[in-house]
Amino acid sequence: VKVTFVAADGSETSVEGEEGASVMQTAVANDVEGIVGECGGSMMCATCHCYVDDAWISKTGERQHDEDDMLEGAASEVRETSRLSCQIKLDQSLDGLVVHLPDEQF
Ligand code: FES
Repeated sequence: VKVTFVAADGSETSVEGEEGASVMQTAVANDVEGIVGECGGSMMCATCHCYVDDAWISKTGERQHDEDDMLEGAASEVRETSRLSCQIKLDQSLDGLVVHLPDEQF
């Protein structure tokens, strides 16, 4: 499943993620800067904050209420498209997914 991360400075990194892995795990496994995932995916940190590309919002779905609570503590601006990337699981319908990274996670 191909995922493209667009950094705050506009640079793009495309990686191949495993089906069933989260976007956060995919970023960490490929050393993508800009996603930290400090809590390991248990919705306790908000250092995996990302912005889903407008074209992909309908596929990734809306964020959950629990994510809203955690994003209140996010370091960067929270937008309509903000998600915790550990809560987005990859499957074939997300092949080609584009997510944008905030400029800071702490
Ligand atoms: Fe901590 Fe996503 S990795 S909330």
